[in-house]
Amino acid sequence: MDQLIGSPAIARGLRDVEDRIGRLGGSSALPGINAGAGRIISAGGKRLRPALTLATALALGRTPNRRVVTAAACVELIHAGSLVHDDLMDGATERRGARTLNAELGDGKALVIGDFMLARAGLAAITAVSRPVAEVLAATVVELAEGQYLETTSLYDPDRTVEAALASIRGKTAALFRAGCLVAAICARATAEERAGMAAYGERFGLIFQILDDLLDLTAPSGLLGKPAGQDLRHGVYTLPLLLTRDAGATGSLGGKLTGEQVEEVIRELRTAGMVELTLEYCRGLAADAVAALPVLRHGEAAALLYGLPTAYLRQVGEIVGSTSVGCDLLE
Ligand code: IPE
Ligand code: IPE
Ligand code: MG
Ligand code: MG
Repeated sequence: MDQLIGSPAIARGLRDVEDRIGRLGGSSALPGINAGAGRIISAGGKRLRPALTLATALALGRTPNRRVVTAAACVELIHAGSLVHDDLMDGATERRGARTLNAELGDGKALVIGDFMLARAGLAAITAVSRPVAEVLAATVVELAEGQYLETTSLYDPDRTVEAALASIRGKTAALFRAGCLVAAICARATAEERAGMAAYGERFGLIFQILDDLLDLTAPSGLLGKPAGQDLRHGVYTLPLLLTRDAGATGSLGGKLTGEQVEEVIRELRTAGMVELTLEYCRGLAADAVAALPVLRHGEAAALLYGLPTAYLRQVGEIVGSTSVGCDLLE
């Protein structure tokens, strides 16, 4: 991931993207909205989705032009808006190492600032990119809402299936990664086959990204995340790592609200039952599928970054969560 964001061509494009995000987030007639949107935008964030958009355009042989940069900025604005809504839904107080908008300004203001960010991205896509890109992004916001909704329908459900969890994360997270790659392919005038391949890659990497975020939530120290750990279990969101481990035979006291001590106990049980390895193994399969979906790419350096990204990210998270055998050397 660091290699992707640190690559000179992508880093250059990201500076333009940053400028565009700042302008879009600050474009309301109401200073309070600009201040709120500016707060989450400038609090940090890895800018992974726009970096993927830029890498896709480069890999398909296009230097990121104004349209690609704006499309990438729209993708990040949608992401940041969805985080504002996610924190509101969760009653979260910390995001990107800073206080959330709901904690700082109250739920009502956070709600409409999130709305503003999602809608502003749609407006920029239609006015400054193209209708096909705007359609992809609008459809993605629909999927995002559906994915988040699905999560709320199986809270505290000890019988939540792996398929149900996958349907939720496909909508709430993978759809935007997919869109990030697809809009770049559209801007690069790629063939239908190349578009489909890049979209499939983005979706699969997005699934990996969410599953590893879920694993980190269950295993990593909060200081590292910039948001509190253990929240999913505490709020009754039974994520893929937990469900895979349950299906492998681990039992746990699920189905009701847990105290802090009980959360720690369940996490200990899951780790002992092999949650880390089961999750990494599952993601290795997705990483192989992601790479297999990539079309033939023209630009060597950007292509190598896309090929290497799923494995590199798996390895990075594997080291954080203390796996002894990450072993996902797809390309070595
Ligand atoms: C957080 O995404 C939400 C998830 C899909 C897990 P990121 O981890 O990319 O958040 P930022 O943009 O770096 O803050
Ligand atoms: C991602 O899910 C939220 C969105 C895609 C909007 P999470 O709920 O896991 O994200 P974090 O952990 O709060 O960043
Ligand atoms: Mg959340
Ligand atoms: Mg999470």
